[in-house]
Amino acid sequence: MANNLRLLGAVMFLFGVGAMVNVPLRAQPAKQAIAHRGASGYAPEHTLASYRLAMEQKADFVEPDLAVSRDNVLICLHDDTLERTTNVAEVFPDRPSANVPGRARGNGKRWLANDFTIAELKRLDAGKWRDPKFAGERIVTFQEMIDLVRGHAGLYPELKSPQLYKSRNVDQVNLFVDLIKKNGLERPESLRTTPIIIQSFDEEAIRRVAIDLPTIPRVFLTSSDADLTDARLKELATFATGIAPEKALIAKHPDMVPRAHAAHLTVTSWTFSASEKTSFPTVRDEMSHFLYTLGIDALFTNNPDQFPRRP
Ligand code: G3P
Ligand code: CA
Repeated sequence: MANNLRLLGAVMFLFGVGAMVNVPLRAQPAKQAIAHRGASGYAPEHTLASYRLAMEQKADFVEPDLAVSRDNVLICLHDDTLERTTNVAEVFPDRPSANVPGRARGNGKRWLANDFTIAELKRLDAGKWRDPKFAGERIVTFQEMIDLVRGHAGLYPELKSPQLYKSRNVDQVNLFVDLIKKNGLERPESLRTTPIIIQSFDEEAIRRVAIDLPTIPRVFLTSSDADLTDARLKELATFATGIAPEKALIAKHPDMVPRAHAAHLTVTSWTFSASEKTSFPTVRDEMSHFLYTLGIDALFTNNPDQFPRRP
């Protein structure tokens, strides 16, 4: 496993550097499984249980979505708010946030993670919403996630909602860059054993990490047809090393895969889940189609154990 990771790290490092200096790739890395919010098909997303299972299932990368606590600690959380994946409504019934952008669930109340300190967030249960057997799982800090995964799998952090934090005078990108550097994750010797790829829907965030963390590959996420034109792909390649369209977009424009490769961008897609009904008999068949028929390089899946390593 350690040797595999070193090889993968070396390939990813060369891939990132190659894309930065616009050098055509000579060797394609193997297809890569990214555990979406951990092995979230089986365990509550973004918990240590989910991340541990992802590694047991041999995911190449584990994905943390990143949010920021009130006291500026990066935490692993998909939603900006806490009510879907924690018992915040029980623990802090009198602390819903005002004027939260986006759609509310249930009683309409929402609890922004950014309104709570890390000490308060650690009081929440992040497992029992999924199943009582996961009661006691906690919100995980990005540092705790790094400490768990480093040396065993790659890291694939997503900068979620940087503009929300900006509106609250919080520089999420800066907090992220500082933590990456504090851990030395951008150094070539670290990238060889623990590859890391940064992802975001936020173009400004990707442009900033291209400057602040140039050794780390970075992937621009999109749901927009407008990002798939040749001109746009060429522009993306000036600051990103890869593009990650959602799978429906690739299915609609399968020609974008060779065009993106020609622009020296990797192609990743999301999200492949055994619980979703699709036109494929199994999620393994669906992943196989995107990887080996359409030719994408990597994908996010809730079921890393179903990832097809070959056609
Ligand atoms: O980050 C890739 C994929 O995870 C995007 O979807 O909403 O699960 O973060 P989401
Ligand atoms: Ca994500």
